[in-house]
Amino acid sequence: MPVRIIVGLQWGDEGKGKMVDHLALDASAVARFSGGANAGHTVETPMGRYALHMLPSGVLRQGVAGMIGSGCVVDPLALLGEISDLENSGVTVADRLLVSGKVHLVHPAARVSEAFSETGADRKIGTTGRGIGPTYVEKFRRRGIRLEDISLPAQFSARCRERADRCAQEFGLEGTAREALVRDTEAFIEASLSMARYVGDVSYTISRILEENGTVIAEGAQGTLLDPDHGTYPYVTCGQCVSGAACTSLGFGPNRVGEVVGILKAYSTRVGEGPFPTEQANETGERIRKAGNEYGTTTGRPRRCGWSDGVLARYATRLNGCDWITLTLLDVLSGFEELQVCTRYELDPEQDLALFETGVRLGAHIPVYETLPGWKEDIRGETRWDALPPNARRYVETLERLAGAPIRAISTGPDRDHLIRRDN
Ligand code: GDP
Ligand code: IMO
Ligand code: MG
Repeated sequence: MPVRIIVGLQWGDEGKGKMVDHLALDASAVARFSGGANAGHTVETPMGRYALHMLPSGVLRQGVAGMIGSGCVVDPLALLGEISDLENSGVTVADRLLVSGKVHLVHPAARVSEAFSETGADRKIGTTGRGIGPTYVEKFRRRGIRLEDISLPAQFSARCRERADRCAQEFGLEGTAREALVRDTEAFIEASLSMARYVGDVSYTISRILEENGTVIAEGAQGTLLDPDHGTYPYVTCGQCVSGAACTSLGFGPNRVGEVVGILKAYSTRVGEGPFPTEQANETGERIRKAGNEYGTTTGRPRRCGWSDGVLARYATRLNGCDWITLTLLDVLSGFEELQVCTRYELDPEQDLALFETGVRLGAHIPVYETLPGWKEDIRGETRWDALPPNARRYVETLERLAGAPIRAISTGPDRDHLIRRDN
């Protein structure tokens, strides 16, 4: 298996971290290909619970190299903080981390700019406040600051201070607000300059690993429906979330991809604003939130919860070219008398996907549900397919049929061994 790409099929938080950690067992390297510290990937291990924001989720496996590709945006303070937190809990990553010199750095001005656009805006997105959007904006208007720029420290520092001045001027910052930005910028410069030891050529290193028959996992962040091209624009993030982006970010050709694995939650969640056809803003949603502990890993915000959406699952599976799917958090649905699954939208049942893709607002679609019987048994931690209650198996098979790819793994709890593999 050369490169294995892992992507989220919904609006993020599908349980990518857990599955990347699982698959990293036989990988040489795990490389993040999108986003920044807006991500929050949880991995529960016997050593404890880790929430990774910037580091690839594979680094909790000893000996697996961690990489961050050029399509990511990196907040140096957040990254260094994460490295030292891990070291304090006994996991050393400094000697096996490689960050592309082409990543763009999240300057403190980006968070200031984001705070203004989220509070004063006519259209609030409900972002994570990590400066992600404004950093990508700077990148594409060709004024961004890249990690490789630290090779000329004096020029780098001058540009960072100039960026702070430009921000202060644009938003009319004065007094303590301006002082805070100046202070944060100096801390940012110092942290960035101390990252020299991690800078390297991710694309070349991956090619060497593949030449030696190693396996690389490309770890996606966020989810397909938050992708700026294919998601529910404008309520999206700014990094590209779909599987194709792994090639451009990490610098390998599509012919190096062995397989694409989609991660699908057994129900739907979304944080922030934007369309969510199967949302249950009622007692059902509350019940799912409570059972699944659906609060943001990065921001702590309550996640919006709802039923599974077979139309969007099929859309995301096709867009990413998923070879197979891992279904996660199935245990959360135990105890529901009945479960609903959206099988189509009422608006033109013949051409659901075509309508969705040609830009008809998702909000105008009325989901049509199939009702399935639930199961009473607690399935948390189950590891055998045959031991699942028949109604749980029927639920999985229904989603499999709707999504259009085999569900080869089922996660039944947060721990490493809470997993059913149907393929071995
Ligand atoms: P990611 O961003 O896709 O990596 O997902 P998050 O870590 O943000 O959210 C997934 C949450 O569900 C985390 O708290 C995980 O520990 C937890 N989790 C993952 N898989 C399962 C599962 O199968 N069952 C339960 N109950 N929790 C899970
Ligand atoms: P992981 O990798 C869930 C959402 C935000 C907001 C929108 C834009 O843990 O699955 P941004 O700060 O990126 O500009 O916010 O995207 N969002 C996520 N939602 N999981 C994530 O990451 C997310 N990253 C961003 O809530 O709606
Ligand atoms: Mg998350």
